[in-house]
Amino acid sequence: MGSLKGDIPEEIISLCGSCTEAFNRTTDPDSHIALARHALRGLLLDRTLFVRLMESILEGASFPDIQRPTLFDNEILLYQEPDRLYSLRMYIWGPGEYTPVHDHNSWGVIGTVTDGFEVVNYSRVDDGKLEGYAELSERERFNLEAGESAHTYPLDDGIHMTGNPTLGTIITLSLYGKPVARPYIQGFDLVHRRAFRITSPRRKKAHLAAQALQTLTPHA
Ligand SMILES: [Fe+2]
Repeated sequence: MGSLKGDIPEEIISLCGSCTEAFNRTTDPDSHIALARHALRGLLLDRTLFVRLMESILEGASFPDIQRPTLFDNEILLYQEPDRLYSLRMYIWGPGEYTPVHDHNSWGVIGTVTDGFEVVNYSRVDDGKLEGYAELSERERFNLEAGESAHTYPLDDGIHMTGNPTLGTIITLSLYGKPVARPYIQGFDLVHRRAFRITSPRRKKAHLAAQALQTLTPHA
């Protein structure tokens, strides 16, 4: 754990230490998921840790680093294992805030610090062969109470939407496994049966600039 800096809370260093050790022992994703769910539970119930983390953000402390680019704007990277074996991320959800329906590049465990976090899981109905088209059906929906977690899988096996149906603010933690090499996740528009790419803001700006350049200089 030499790469972990001194300003990361001891509780997070300890969790990441046991995940690194266990994940190096076996490559079975379901074992990793079971271990992550078990390890996260104690952290999720530690309210004083999250009070400290929120205070650190407000004070502009170096950890957690809210300047670091992430895919979603409510996401804060807490730890990235140097070999990309896993990452630990915190999300803060305002009242009524939800993700779009999306897939994942790795397995993931999603747990909540505060009551009520909603998870809606979908199954893919079409065969995925038609570019930009996707037909989904809702499989299940449930709410998590503090300390509880759910899990997801990569690509079409892990399509869901998550968010905050309450009037309060919700804090969640996600632990994601080693990602497949794909510079985006897939988003889904249920009404129009459309699939689209969700990229990081930095990548999106570069992509839009490339598209704009084509518009400005169509014959170049
Ligand atoms: Fe997700």
